[in-house]
Amino acid sequence: WWKDVQPAARDPILGVTEAFLADTHPSKMNVGVGAYRTDEGKPLVLECVRQAERHIAGSNFMEYLPMGGSVVFNDHSMKLAYGEEASVLADKRVAGIQALSGTGACRLFADFQRRFKPESHIFIPVPTWANHHNIWRDAHVPQHTFRYYDPVTKGLDFAGLMEDVKRAPEASVFLLHACAHNPTGVDPSPEQWKEISALFKEKNHFALFDMAYQGFASGDTNRDAQAIRIFLDDGHQVACAQSFAKNMGLYGQRVGCLSVVCDDTQQAVAVKSQLQQIARPMYSNPPLHGALIVSTILGDPDLKALWHTEVKGMADRIITMRELLKKNLVEAGSHLNWQHITDQIGMFCFSGLNPEQVDRLTSQFHIYLTRNGRISMAGINSNNVEYLANAIHEVTRE
Ligand code: LMR
Repeated sequence: WWKDVQPAARDPILGVTEAFLADTHPSKMNVGVGAYRTDEGKPLVLECVRQAERHIAGSNFMEYLPMGGSVVFNDHSMKLAYGEEASVLADKRVAGIQALSGTGACRLFADFQRRFKPESHIFIPVPTWANHHNIWRDAHVPQHTFRYYDPVTKGLDFAGLMEDVKRAPEASVFLLHACAHNPTGVDPSPEQWKEISALFKEKNHFALFDMAYQGFASGDTNRDAQAIRIFLDDGHQVACAQSFAKNMGLYGQRVGCLSVVCDDTQQAVAVKSQLQQIARPMYSNPPLHGALIVSTILGDPDLKALWHTEVKGMADRIITMRELLKKNLVEAGSHLNWQHITDQIGMFCFSGLNPEQVDRLTSQFHIYLTRNGRISMAGINSNNVEYLANAIHEVTRE
C-alpha cells in the first residue's frame, strides 16, 4: 500500500529540536524553537497558570466543548486582542472560535478563505514563520509574497512593502504579524502601520493578523495589539489568529482563537457557524483544559494582573539577553555591527548568519538554530551567552 511513500523533509523549526535532543554533547544549546526558558535554562510554568490550575482542580466538567470551543474563553480572548472597550465587540459583530493555538487558527482561516473567497490569494511576508507556507499550501490557497525585511539594513523594507501592497490585485488577503515578527523581530512603527492601513483601505485588502506574541514585544499586551487597533480605528474588517502558547507558556495545551470581524451580528453568527463546520470534520471540538486556564486567568483581576507582571518578566529577561549577547560579541573581539540584536524585538533575533555559518555553529559548537540564522533569544541565559557569543564570533570572523 505505502511503497511509494518517501520520508518527509525535516521540519525547519521542530526538526532542529529533534537534532538537539539526539546530541549528547554537554555544552549543547538549543536556540531553535521559540519556547521560553528561565535564566537556568528551564521551561517555565507561570505562577498565574499554577494558581488557575488550583482554581479548576477537582472540577467535574470533562464534557465536550461546543464545536466553536468555550464561549467564555473566546470572549476573553477577543477582548485581549481588540480591546476591552472595542465597539466591534460591543456590537457583537466578531465571529470568534477557539482554535488549536495559532497554527490551528491560521489553518481554520485558510480553509475558510478557500471556501468562501475561492478567487482570493494570500500574500505572505518575506521572510515569515516557515509553517505559514505549509498552512496555505495545504488549504489550496494560491500564495504570493511581499517584501518585508531588508537584509542590508537588518530592518523593515517599508518602501518595498508599500510597493508590493500597492501592486497586489484589489481585495487580496495579507498575512500580517501583529507584533514581534517571526523570524525577524522587526515590526513597523505605529506611523508605518497607519500608512499600511490607509493603503489597505485604498486597495480594499483584507488583513489577517497572526498574533502569537502579544505581550512578548513590549511586555504590554495593549501596546502589542496596536497594529490591530489602528486597523480597527480605520474601519477595517480584520481577522486575528491568537495563540496563548508563548504569552501564557501553554505550548502543549494548544489553545488559541480565530476571530473574524464582520459587518453585523447576523453575519458574525453565519461566519462562526461556518468556521465550526470547518472544525467539525477535522477535530470535532477543541480541548478543554487550556481554555479553562486562560479564561480563569483573564476572568480574575488578580490573576490577570499577575499574568501581566509575569509576561513582562519574560519580555524583560529576553531584552537583557539581547544586551548581554551584543556585549559578549564585542568582548569576544568581533568588529562586526551587532546593533540589530538590541534593535529587534520579541522572542527572536534574526542574526544575519548564513546557512553555512549556522551549520558550523551546529557541527563545531553543538548550537542548534534554524538555518535562516534565527536565534531564539529565550534559549539564551547568563551561563551560555558567552559560549554562544564566542562561537558566533568564530564562525563570522574574516
Ligand atoms: C517557532 O517559530 O519556533 C514556534 O512558533 C514553534 C513552531 O511551532 O514553529
